[in-house]
Amino acid sequence: MSDSALGAADRQVLVASNRGPVSFTSAEDGTLSMRRGGGGLVSGLAGVAAGNGGNRPIWVCAALSDADRQAARQAPDGRLDKAGHDTGGACVRMLDIPASTFHRAYNGVANSTLWFVHHLLYDTPNAPHFDARARRDWQSYEAYNAAFADALARDAEPGARAAIQDYHLSLAPRMLRERRPDLKIAHFSHTPWAPPEYYRLLPDDLGVQVLEGILGADHAGFLARRWADAFMDCCETLLHAKVDRTAGTVHHKGRTTRIGVHGLGVDGDDLIARAAQPDVAERARALREQVGDRQLIVRIDRTELSKNIVRGLAAYREMLANHPEWHGRVVHLAFAYPSRQDLAEYRDYTAAVERTAAQIREEFGTPAWDPLILQVKDDYARTLAAYGMADVLLVNPIRDGMNLVAKEGPVLSRRGCALVLSREAGAAADLGEDALLVNPYDVSQTAETLHRALLMPPDERAERCRRLAAAATALPPRRWFADQLAALD
Ligand code: G6P
Repeated sequence: MSDSALGAADRQVLVASNRGPVSFTSAEDGTLSMRRGGGGLVSGLAGVAAGNGGNRPIWVCAALSDADRQAARQAPDGRLDKAGHDTGGACVRMLDIPASTFHRAYNGVANSTLWFVHHLLYDTPNAPHFDARARRDWQSYEAYNAAFADALARDAEPGARAAIQDYHLSLAPRMLRERRPDLKIAHFSHTPWAPPEYYRLLPDDLGVQVLEGILGADHAGFLARRWADAFMDCCETLLHAKVDRTAGTVHHKGRTTRIGVHGLGVDGDDLIARAAQPDVAERARALREQVGDRQLIVRIDRTELSKNIVRGLAAYREMLANHPEWHGRVVHLAFAYPSRQDLAEYRDYTAAVERTAAQIREEFGTPAWDPLILQVKDDYARTLAAYGMADVLLVNPIRDGMNLVAKEGPVLSRRGCALVLSREAGAAADLGEDALLVNPYDVSQTAETLHRALLMPPDERAERCRRLAAAATALPPRRWFADQLAALD
């Protein structure tokens, strides 16, 4: 390896994301306890920490709750590792952003506006309303992004590499570049990207600000080709930037940003090791007692509007109505964990999911057969158990950056599950040949596809599932993260 290559690989790595690797809860007497989260970034960074000559990466994240803010305030300079917390190998700086600023940035802009735009979630009664209040939220979003840019600028060694994650932090790359032109900056979008005609729902100046924010990076990464193309289309339409699709570059205001597609899969060994724990076997036994030897259709989601749970349930209902031969022979396990309950749209959606589930049970249930088990309590061990038992896995988002449920399921399946997958998920590009693809709005098509999946001969199901698992593990998080960094060098 040449000296310069060595130099590149040894340069300090910083990561910035809204949600960090740890979170805190506070007991009644005020004592804080810490919980470590999982997820792709955590394991991706663990790989960097191991291979970077002891130069531990720095992870900048936001305090998400009062307990987090308290922990951040108590740690020297917000550095949780310096306060003696076990952060799993990374130096973690948790930003104590004032609660009101955080809520406006996170709920008002990131989770409402930007999430809704990229997932095409607005409809007429729910159309965006950009008024004075939205402008105020936007100012908080700017302040929140600036807090990240300040922290990164302060922590970064000369020439360091900063990997900024997701729609919460779309302004930060440009802000960081203004503060530290010497850095190598990457931005990665974990969501889809909206096509220009939909993206233009945003007030013009704000839409431009987001695009120019990301173009502050040297490299902008996406999970699928479609999302990268849509981003370039927006740059062309709104900024009149010079886009070279063959080279994968956007040239704007004297700077060039490279656009990359980095798919994300799952770490099969980690997942299989976790699923081999006794708590998973225990949950599997309990579930099996509940459902008997019936076939199982499984879905696992956050109760998230883009996950399209209500149409998924409606499809199951239509399948039961059209194919009474399944009565008593199939159970739908729907795990829908609460998410973003600060937002009214999410609370309403959760209620709609519960209502639809109750209707199905009422319409078809008998004393001997419960056609649907809806679980809203988050239980990871039960999720892993359900993956192992699924005959059919239903993943039907309206739109999804990638969707890792579609990748985890086949890896853990013991029965060779069939995958019914929305063609609008980024995962469809990786799994489309062996999954049964559906249009997420077409309830009848989804119903017939569920029926077909249940009828698929076991050999064919097992063979497809084996290929799905191979595709799902081809891009483990460590590789995905290493690719982001390599793209900067
Ligand atoms: C999903 C999305 C990510 C996003 C995350 C935030 O996993 O795919 O793009 O960063 O949600 O979720 P949170 O619970 O932190 O709002």
